[in-house]
Amino acid sequence: MPKLKTLYICQQCGHQSIKWAGRCPGCGEWNALVEEVVEPLGSSGSRPLDAVATTPLAEVTLDDAVRVRTGLGEFDRVLGGGIVPGSVTLVGGEPGIGKSTLLLSVAGALAASGQTVLYVSGEESLRQTKLRAMRLGLSGSPVRLLAHTQLEVIAGAIAQLAPQVVIVDSIQVIEAEALNSAPGSIGQVRACAQALVRLMKAGHSALFLVGHVTKDGYLAGPKVLEHLVDTVLYFEGEPTSGFRLLRSTKNRFGATHELGVFHMTAEGLVEVPNPSELFVSDPASGAMPGCMVGVSLEGSRPLLVEVQALTSPCGIGLPRRRTTGVDFNRLSMLLAVLERRVGLHQLAQQDVFVSSLGGVRLLEPAADLAVAIAIASSLKERPTSRRDLAIGEVGLTGEVRPVVNVSQRVHEAKRVGFQRCFVAARRGGAARMDGIELIPVAHVREAVALALE
Ligand code: TYD
Ligand code: MG
Repeated sequence: MPKLKTLYICQQCGHQSIKWAGRCPGCGEWNALVEEVVEPLGSSGSRPLDAVATTPLAEVTLDDAVRVRTGLGEFDRVLGGGIVPGSVTLVGGEPGIGKSTLLLSVAGALAASGQTVLYVSGEESLRQTKLRAMRLGLSGSPVRLLAHTQLEVIAGAIAQLAPQVVIVDSIQVIEAEALNSAPGSIGQVRACAQALVRLMKAGHSALFLVGHVTKDGYLAGPKVLEHLVDTVLYFEGEPTSGFRLLRSTKNRFGATHELGVFHMTAEGLVEVPNPSELFVSDPASGAMPGCMVGVSLEGSRPLLVEVQALTSPCGIGLPRRRTTGVDFNRLSMLLAVLERRVGLHQLAQQDVFVSSLGGVRLLEPAADLAVAIAIASSLKERPTSRRDLAIGEVGLTGEVRPVVNVSQRVHEAKRVGFQRCFVAARRGGAARMDGIELIPVAHVREAVALALE
């Protein structure tokens, strides 16, 4: 492959430079120069303008959009019903969360159904991959392996094998010979991903790119790739709990925010097709102060999640506030509402800890009411009922506001056996649902009083 011409281009001001520098000579921004391949316009076979043909929308056929099911139901549902041939999917997640395990299981399942699958392992040797496969019960699988990090070699293997599915684990270790920058740098990651995407779109194979992200979603890679790919999946979970959640945050071929739940076991990932009871503590454990169940809606799947709060008098100094799963700023707001609008002035001298069971992220405002009730319950040392749950957003005035898809959330709660649900009074819609009592509340004060009765 001929050496391509590369330049360092500033991501802030577009300044071009032949040499890398820590600081852009154009705008003075630090760490903004990124190496990129520059091909003069017209050199890569650009055609004269009169040869460009356009296609009427009505004549575009979709015969190739047939999805391939992997057989891992949770994985398929997050993708929107299976793999779309020719699509490119980025699977991001923190190191050690289980991305390689997930994708090797997917590769094994696809290969077992007769698909040609190429698994490119850039981080682990063939031996290590085999050891992993043995744990997953895939040691006899026909998956084709390549342990290499060089883009040109990978492209060669893809051309020879013409696989239906290619998995590259991970994009951060792949390097293109043409670039001088280190693997994992923004320039390398982007150039390698672009080259692979181009190969796939031409050949109609599906590509999965593994990308590591840190807690704040950074580390050259996944973020710069999101616009290049069709689908972005994030694999996450509390490292200490065995549960792993797979979410789609972008999907050109299906709904976003779809959620798949897995359990990491000694023999790999096991699907959890019915996860609602997982994140709620055992009803038999009796009523306890500081607990309230809310319902988050992930894509099309309602998930019951218990919120637990603990308040404890703080000594001297500023009171501490800690959250797991619940948004910190949202907690600050709810504490202010409880102090000023519900009259729980003691909260100003309390440390407050709030967490969701299993560390499930409750980012929707629909969880507000459950969080507020849990805090009030802990502060007053009055237990809530195990059969109650709360759905609603809390406004700055303390009003309880309706949220989307209440009936879908309530149905799920009913199915699991809850008997009373606090909902916004302004909600409209059915006042009763068979088997579960809907209690309308207009203000968080009212909800707290009823829940702690
Ligand atoms: P891995 O897939 O290597 O993570 P990633 O590719 O995201 O970095 O998973 C690593 C963790 O998963 C590791 O701590 C071991 C654990 N694990 C199991 O618990 N069971 C298994 O069957 C396998 C293969 C891994
Ligand atoms: Mg890995």
